[in-house]
Formats: sequence, C-alpha cells, structure tokens
Amino acid sequence: MSGNETVADANKYWRRYYAERFRFGLGTEDILAALMTIPPIPTWVDLGCGSESMLWAIALRAQQLVAVDVDRTRLKILGRFAELARPRGVHTTALALCGRAEPDDFLARCRSLVARVCADCLNGSLPADLTATAFDLVTQFGLLGLCRNDEHFTTRFAEIHRLLAPGGWTAGANWVARDRSGRVQLNRRLYQHAATQAGVHLLFLKRITTADPEFPAVWTYVGRTMPCPPAEPLSHQTEGR
Ligand SMILES: C[S@@+](CC[C@H](N)C(=O)[O-])C[C@H]1O[C@@H](n2cnc3c(N)ncnc32)[C@H](O)[C@@H]1O
Repeated sequence: MSGNETVADANKYWRRYYAERFRFGLGTEDILAALMTIPPIPTWVDLGCGSESMLWAIALRAQQLVAVDVDRTRLKILGRFAELARPRGVHTTALALCGRAEPDDFLARCRSLVARVCADCLNGSLPADLTATAFDLVTQFGLLGLCRNDEHFTTRFAEIHRLLAPGGWTAGANWVARDRSGRVQLNRRLYQHAATQAGVHLLFLKRITTADPEFPAVWTYVGRTMPCPPAEPLSHQTEGR
C-alpha cells in the first residue's frame, strides 16, 4: 500500500474491520470512549465515512448525519445498512460499551443519516452543498492519515474545519501504517500545528498502541473551534491600567 490509498476495497473493508465480532485492542473502544465526551449535537458531517459511520454514531448523539466519501460503493453499503438498521456483532458490543440500552437506540442512529455525498475531501475545494452548511461536529476516521505529507495534512485539516459552526466540535482518528511510504508521518507536533492553523483547540489527543501489526497505533483526538474571546466588562478593561 502506498500513497493515499485505503487499505482494502469497499467490500473487503466492510467484512474485515467492523463485522460480526468486536475486536478489542485495535483502538476502537478507545475511540468510542473519546466520542462519548461530546455532548448531543444537531448536525454532524463524517468525512471519508466509508461504510462505517453507524459504528461511531453509537457513541455520538447527533440528530442529523451527512456522510461524505469519494467511493460510491462504500456510500452504497452505508446507505443499505442504515436502511436495514440491523446491528452487526460489532455494533451490539459498541451499544453495550456506550450504555445505549434503549431498544430504538440503533434505529435512531440509522435514521439520523440524512444525506450521503460523494466528494473528494483531500484534493481541491469541498462541494458547495457542504460548505453552505455550518455543522456542529466534523469527524474523520482514517481520512487525514491518507495525506501525503505534513503540508497536505495541515491544509486539509484547516479545510475540513471550515465546515464547523463557531464553537463546534471535531473528533477523529488516524491509524499509523507500518508501511508508511507515501503517507504523512503522524505525530503530536503535527496535530497541534494543524489544529492551531485551523483555529481548533484540542481537548484530547492521544497515540494509542494497537494489536494490529499492519496499523500498530492510532492517533485519536477531540477538539472544539476556538470560541471568540468574550467581551470584557468595562470595569475589567480599565482595571490596573
Ligand atoms: C481507512 S478508510 C476509513 C473508513 C471509515 N471512516 C472508518 O471509520 O472505518 C478511509 C476512507 O476514506 C475514503 N477516502 C479516501 N480518499 C478520499 C478522498 N480523497 N476524499 C474522500 N474520501 C476519501 C475511503 O474511500 C475510505 O472510505
């Protein structure tokens, strides 16, 4: 694997990563726990969603989800799955881990999928139908890790966070490939630099070691767009001057 290719094609990915059995130790449980810290939000856009948004949706509490990917086959799998709303083994375990015990919890997640958009999120501008909306949460799981280098990562990190409403939330995860050829080298300094450039304050950023020899670590983060500083009361502005 090299460059910004995903590790497996749509059908293979759907079968391999999140299927009938929840695979502990790959970072999934840690990502779900990080997502649980985000409060309920009206609108969420998942970029590079693949077929998997419904897994992350279990931890989140979003009313409306827009799922975006460059691959129509993955979007089709996601759409069909959300329509059926029948959790696989991985979803059942995730529902239990996240304490989503109401019978309609999974159905509600599936019904939150309001649009699937086929778009390239790593090259050029995002489509106007996306940029016209201010979302309360932007996520990407495994998308930005496909960037070529630091500059590509930093530029795209900023671009995707322009979709956020002021004070909006961001979260994501990027796996570190054993074979890093053609891929950005993820590290704390890069995330922090990209976040600063994007006007994002990272509340949580962690490199989690995994048991997957192909992807031995995953960087996970949660953040918010930096709020505008509140206007200081007049008495404070003049105090001590
Ligand atoms: C590693 S997979 C992650 C899929 C899913 N988000 C998950 O959590 O498993 C990367 C995803 O990014 C998508 N992708 C790759 N290049 C893209 C691009 N330029 N624009 C949008 N999506 C892209 C792939 O089709 C794939 O679905």
